[in-house]
Amino acid sequence: MNRNDFPILDQQVYHKPLVYFDNAATTQKPLPVIEALSDYYRSINSNIHRGVHFLSQKATEEFEVARKAVQQFIHAAHDYEVIFTRGATESINLVAASFGRTYIHSGDEIIVSEMEHHSNIVPWQFLCEDRGAVLKVLPFQDNGELCLQQLETLITPKTKIVAITHVSNSLGTINPIQEIIRTAHAHGVPVMVDGAQAVAHCPVDVQTLDCDFYCFSGHKMYGPMGIGVMYGKEKWLREMKPYQGGGEMISNVTFEKTTYNDLPFKFEAGTPAVGDVIGLRKAIEYMQQVGVEKIAEYEEGLRQYATQQLLQIEGLRIIGQAKEKAAVISFLVGDIHPYDMGVLLDHQGIAVRTGHHCTQPVMNHYQIPGTVRASFALYNTQEEIDRMVEAVRKAKAMLE
Ligand SMILES: Cc1ncc(COP(=O)(O)O)c(C=O)c1O
Repeated sequence: MNRNDFPILDQQVYHKPLVYFDNAATTQKPLPVIEALSDYYRSINSNIHRGVHFLSQKATEEFEVARKAVQQFIHAAHDYEVIFTRGATESINLVAASFGRTYIHSGDEIIVSEMEHHSNIVPWQFLCEDRGAVLKVLPFQDNGELCLQQLETLITPKTKIVAITHVSNSLGTINPIQEIIRTAHAHGVPVMVDGAQAVAHCPVDVQTLDCDFYCFSGHKMYGPMGIGVMYGKEKWLREMKPYQGGGEMISNVTFEKTTYNDLPFKFEAGTPAVGDVIGLRKAIEYMQQVGVEKIAEYEEGLRQYATQQLLQIEGLRIIGQAKEKAAVISFLVGDIHPYDMGVLLDHQGIAVRTGHHCTQPVMNHYQIPGTVRASFALYNTQEEIDRMVEAVRKAKAMLE
């Protein structure tokens, strides 16, 4: 990995070198991704799957090669189990809507956890409202770990799906999803995993996990914005009704009856983000060149170092102390509002996230308005962490 691959990092904000610690919101893009987007629009831009002409065939080929790259990256059994969406949010909405239309009826139950991103709560609430189903919540303990033993009792014969995050974006907790999947499957219940915060930080093997669905965004794993993936096991995708109607997802249309296209196209209505899909492939290749295991190890080193250094600041507490954590640190300092801390850090060149991080139930759990969140990526350094710690000390002295 060469930090120069990420040109955006080499800049000053407020006359200070930028320290970018907002990677859980979105990661920066390496040159191969930026260049792939530009190359696509310079040389092969055209609509895919429908054209006989050279450019269309070339773009289609690149698009489908990228699907295979994703398949290999998450170890899916088939490339047609990889559905391209706009991002994790759309992927989860797709599962909720399509799985819901097919299998959920009045009185059925859906289980989510208390630490979900709003993206993995609201689509299920829509479904519950439409179908008269019931949303049940698996709580977490104050240390940020799920109350796993309660899962067995939450599951009933009416439970139709468990939808759970792999890694919490506000607490950093890495959930034992394999164990959760095993428990749910023992009761015949499928599991959808929200992998938005996981794919860039640990190797994912959907077949070993045996998850039924796995959703993520390209932009949180060094890829372009506006592209995401919904992986689904073939057996579900074949049975599930489509999500959106339109071009590409059909086999035959008459006013009397429409039949649907084969997988994966049945779930990809309309013109897809072809350039972004090609960019996503480049991001995957970039991560693979560095090594996903190596990235995980390096980020864990950063997290441990930052945790030690931050905890030396009097009055600083870390929200989310799970044993297994990804490179996300949420913290508060005394009574200082996270927004005030965020603004002062910004003025020292440090980009962090403040607020509820789209996890209001997590904030309600701790009865706090929000947190300051520093989240790391493969291009961050210990020296940057030192600068953040120094900046927090300065801000604290100003605000207290
Ligand atoms: C855990 C989790 N799930 C879902 C999402 C939604 O991702 P996107 O906004 O890329 O669709 C996020 C984004 O922060 C997230 O952290």
